[in-house]
Amino acid sequence: MKIAVLPGDGIGTEIVAEAVKVLKVLDLSFEMEHALVGGAAYEAHGHPLPESTLKLAKDADAVLFGAVGDWKFDKLERALRPEQAILGLRKNLQLFANFRPAICYEELTHASSLKPELVAGLDILIIRELTGDIYFGQPRGRRLSPDGAFEGQTEAFDTMRYSRPEIERIAHVAFQAARKRGKRVTSVDKANVLETFQFWKDIVTEIHAQYPDVELDHMYVDNAAMQLVKAPKKFDVLVTGNMFGDILSDEAAMLTGSIGMLPSASLDANNKGLYEPSHGSAPDIAGKGIANPLATILSAAMMLRYSLAQPEAADRIESAVKHVLASGLRTGDIWSEGTTRVGTREMGDAVVAAISKTITKT
Ligand code: IPM
Ligand code: MN
Repeated sequence: MKIAVLPGDGIGTEIVAEAVKVLKVLDLSFEMEHALVGGAAYEAHGHPLPESTLKLAKDADAVLFGAVGDWKFDKLERALRPEQAILGLRKNLQLFANFRPAICYEELTHASSLKPELVAGLDILIIRELTGDIYFGQPRGRRLSPDGAFEGQTEAFDTMRYSRPEIERIAHVAFQAARKRGKRVTSVDKANVLETFQFWKDIVTEIHAQYPDVELDHMYVDNAAMQLVKAPKKFDVLVTGNMFGDILSDEAAMLTGSIGMLPSASLDANNKGLYEPSHGSAPDIAGKGIANPLATILSAAMMLRYSLAQPEAADRIESAVKHVLASGLRTGDIWSEGTTRVGTREMGDAVVAAISKTITKT
């Protein structure tokens, strides 16, 4: 088994280093190979997703990814920006199913900006379609003036588009995931305005016929955004398109106290996957040693469970994280009165120590 390790930019290198430490202490037999991606790859090789990095990711059994992006690359032409690396990996590896769980850990109930009773025990799963929609639809571009000057450009456009098979396969993923938990799926659309999402709704309804044991309801995206802060615990599995999923998953992340806690998995049809924290590269705190590594460590646990068939090792990481939170250690993003503030490395060390304890016990 081989894991491609792609730390990327900003806090990516710091948090991935902690997850790698955690994977190493588990003493499982897999190889880890590092490569540059994003702005770091652009600076070294002139491209955010060099051929060699893409090949490593394709050949590996799973990809552990940090984050990409930095304001200093904002002026580059779009094809060379760091974000193209993650979009390119998703498209090339056909990682169409993005799992973004939003779980509120008991110890962090008070770190949420919502009232504790609204989020206590929260456990919802957002499934975001990841390789279609307005993110990838063609045509896209600008209507150019004859001389190409910006002043003469009259409009810009992107295309929202979904094919039947793209909707069918993500609907199956959502119903199957719901079967393993609360057996309820909410499909989020904008069918009242957009043809693409009327099609989405019709096809999800059609596929639902194959899952009579799962309950399905439909919700417009604006209402879903409201319900997520009004009564988030009413959701079980929420399935939606690429763009709405991008937005709603950030919103759901904040319910849990911190986006620094949330892992994610992006899977293809054979459960090969890319695992990354739900948060970004946070250039404002990069290099300071204060970023929360737990989302990345928990992403490594998801990787062990979904792609590497090591569910016990995944459980061990997750219990270790709970143990560390219970012991009162907190990075700045989840700190509250009465807890102990630690840095990125100390947090990783604490998880490693908690795992070592469980290993000697068994
Ligand atoms: C995410 C990010 C990406 C996205 C960016 C970095 C391209 O916001 O993973 O949610 O929009 O999908
Ligand atoms: Mn996002």
